[in-house]
Amino acid sequence: KTDVTLSIIVVGASGELARSKIFPALFALFYEDHLTKDFTIFGYGRTVMSDDDLRSSISENLGCRVGNRGSCEDKMNQFLERCFYCTGQYSSEEHFLELDEKLKEKEVGMLSNRLYYLAVPPHLFVDAVRCSKRRASSNSGWTRVIVEKPFGQDLESSRKLTRDLNQYLKEDQIFRINHHLGEELFDNLLALRFSNLVFEALWSRNYVRNVQLIFSEDISTEGQGRGYEDYGVIRDVMQNHLIHLLALFAMETPVSLDAEDIRNEKVKVLRSISPPRLEDVVIGQHKGYREGNMLCRAFTDGPTVSEGSLTPTYAAATFFINNARWDGVPFMVIAGKGLHSKRAEIRVQFRHVPGNLYGRNAGADLWNATNELVLRVQPDEAIYLRINNKVPGLGKRLDRSNLNLLFGTRYPKEVPDAYERLLLDAIKGERRLFIRNDELEASWSIFTPLLKALKARKVQPELYPFGSEGPVGVHYLAAKYNILCSDFDEH
Ligand code: BG6
Repeated sequence: KTDVTLSIIVVGASGELARSKIFPALFALFYEDHLTKDFTIFGYGRTVMSDDDLRSSISENLGCRVGNRGSCEDKMNQFLERCFYCTGQYSSEEHFLELDEKLKEKEVGMLSNRLYYLAVPPHLFVDAVRCSKRRASSNSGWTRVIVEKPFGQDLESSRKLTRDLNQYLKEDQIFRINHHLGEELFDNLLALRFSNLVFEALWSRNYVRNVQLIFSEDISTEGQGRGYEDYGVIRDVMQNHLIHLLALFAMETPVSLDAEDIRNEKVKVLRSISPPRLEDVVIGQHKGYREGNMLCRAFTDGPTVSEGSLTPTYAAATFFINNARWDGVPFMVIAGKGLHSKRAEIRVQFRHVPGNLYGRNAGADLWNATNELVLRVQPDEAIYLRINNKVPGLGKRLDRSNLNLLFGTRYPKEVPDAYERLLLDAIKGERRLFIRNDELEASWSIFTPLLKALKARKVQPELYPFGSEGPVGVHYLAAKYNILCSDFDEH
């Protein structure tokens, strides 16, 4: 036996997030041998359940990767034997003391590290942190806490949440998770930029004409509960995810790949982004759609949404970064639900070739001359560069082709789920992909004035049919900044 043990406590264990993401990710880490030999997983929650109830509820979602099937069932049973459950209230120190006793039974005689995952709504964070700190934190090893968004509603409430958490935890114990930052391709962004001469050299206003970050979903807000109406897509996806990707994309070269060096650069670039002006923002909300017997509900028909709700399910905004590298380059960020496809990508459009020898006569029109680099996460991982190429033959005609890296073809091994990467990072104390409090504060500073202005002016979202391309207004916004909204489904 080793003398160090790891206890992972999933608070809110009967919830959807825990069942569909956290337990499956922990299992994947276990069967890939990433967890220490001595580990224990405890589910904690208000639902009264036995250990076996927890095991059967999570086993439904555990899956095996292609190639691992042979040993998978055994592994699954070994994993489930390490899973236990403790019923308790989130605000009861007494119940957390019971949890502590159960944990100690497993940790006996060993140095114990404890990782809490708060898979509960945010109004329960502080209670759960207080009780776990006072009654069930490790007294021999480290205690870390992963918190899931939302981290506040605006700058003020987010600061309050940070202050409240800091009463019980030091900043380096808090791991604010944004699962999109754990996606393979975004993690790869740094490698692409900093280990290839050709890209970093072009990464500035001198060559880049605009950048688009697009996150479109073909579902509505099902399963997101009551909270969405107060939240909306700007907070849910733009402030939480996309602005952090933008920061990763646009930051200066960090001193090293160390988490603090990377996060220092992200904060700097976030602080250089001005809050977008209302005229640079388009908001939308999806209506219903009926085709034959199929009916897609309007957002406002949802059971928990009030009539006449102004909550956006779509937003497009243009941001500018006020620094020497990016001065004047529009970054168009688009996020929406109820659209016609699921798609997540970053598109970098380059400037035109000055004095291009191949003019219109050669078949390359204005747009054809533009190179574009696309980093696509969904529907499938790919990196491709659109280039102009001579059509083979006797003429001089050009067409556009892609230099294409399809991950599925080049790397057939399944890419780990974002939660796997992030959980493993939290266990190892690797903070690079988690959001530090100053990053959070800087990102809220960008969005809070916009959110306040939308509310104060009661801005009506443009309605768009479920399953469509979204509000028409986005085309005007793109045209204003000379941004080409490209077709996207080519491989
Ligand atoms: C979540 C958002 O972070 O990401 C949801 O809160 C969204 O609104 C979800 O549906 C999409 O995640 P994924 O992993 O399915 O792309």
